[in-house]
Amino acid sequence: MKLLFIGSRLYDDLDWYVKSKGIESILTESNEEAINLDLPDQVFIVPRGMDGPKQVALMQKVDAVVPLIGIDPPLIDVAHMKEELEAEYDIPVIAAGVRAVELTSDKIRTKGFYTEIGVETPNYQILNSSDELTLDFPVVLKQGQGQGGKDIKVARSIGDVEEYFKEFDQALCEEFIEGAEISIEVLGFNGEFVALPPIYKGETTLEGTHPLNKTKTGPCMVEGLDNNLVQHTAYKVAKNLDSDGIFEMDFMYSRKNNQLYAIEVNTRPNGTRYLTTATCGVNSLCELVNMAIGEFSLSNISDKLQYFYSTEIPIGNYHGPAPNEPVKSFEVNDFVVHGPEGYQRVTARANSKQELENLVEKLI
Ligand SMILES: Nc1ncnc2c1ncn2[C@@H]1O[C@H](COP(=O)(O)OP(=O)(O)O)[C@@H](O)[C@H]1O
Ligand SMILES: [Mg+2]
Repeated sequence: MKLLFIGSRLYDDLDWYVKSKGIESILTESNEEAINLDLPDQVFIVPRGMDGPKQVALMQKVDAVVPLIGIDPPLIDVAHMKEELEAEYDIPVIAAGVRAVELTSDKIRTKGFYTEIGVETPNYQILNSSDELTLDFPVVLKQGQGQGGKDIKVARSIGDVEEYFKEFDQALCEEFIEGAEISIEVLGFNGEFVALPPIYKGETTLEGTHPLNKTKTGPCMVEGLDNNLVQHTAYKVAKNLDSDGIFEMDFMYSRKNNQLYAIEVNTRPNGTRYLTTATCGVNSLCELVNMAIGEFSLSNISDKLQYFYSTEIPIGNYHGPAPNEPVKSFEVNDFVVHGPEGYQRVTARANSKQELENLVEKLI
């Protein structure tokens, strides 16, 4: 088996798995200074965009393509490449297709999609100026595109909204949901979907603190919220997106209204994956490889499912005990350190809450 991976930044997370499967690895990257270029069997430096990877896929006669792109902007080009390589050359590309990316890459379109398929989402308005606002404060102002909390502001007064409009001339304005933030990964391939256990990412705040900067835990244990409901809703969303790869979804749960709200969908490798793997043993990046080599199935996932208590803590720089090789694998570790220097996070797991506390104490 010969696979083409696109993008090197996440490659160290799955290099060990690719090697364990005896897969021949080819990688394209646009930045010759990028990390992990020493890991695959062969590397091609190509211009930005998907023309280079497409040419390499054809020239090298790869069996499948696995994009490892963790940011939003290139996803639509990847989706177009997927449709072309699959239709014209019969080379599977393990990623979301054009319709799924169009529906999920713009938060405004995603809201419409939720409404169409009957999934509850916070009330919203599209504002072209601050005086069009009819929702009660606080409200959350967003742009259609963005990730990691970019261009998001919680407005508590009309002054805050006016301030936001100094920078933007349109806003997606949502009612502020007080409650728990939850993420979940759904894996999809060839019409089959499986929703992995949901993760708890802390409470929403009026400061709009992004979950990237909070301590998270798995599995999600929020009083009043049934995880089956989260999994079922996520499954329904993914099924309606009807595409391949990883679907990571953000939800919020209001205890006051006893209501689960859908917030957004990311059709790419995402920050929830470490905690998902810690919690249930399934690694979404490895599953992309399994999709590419024909080893992805619901029964294979069921066989792998484990049950751990886990947590992920932002620590800046890690100075604790060294993990075993391969360092990014929970198969040989009860913790994994990830993220760039200064923004590192530790994800740890154990069989009980007490053991997890002891482990965390040892690590940080
Ligand atoms: N309706 C809302 N109510 C309360 N907090 C919100 C709401 N929408 C977004 N937030 C806060 O902003 C964060 C980022 O919003 P999100 O829509 O997920 O965009 P991003 O793509 O930047 O992650 C959320 O994780 C949450 O903390
Ligand atoms: Mg988000």
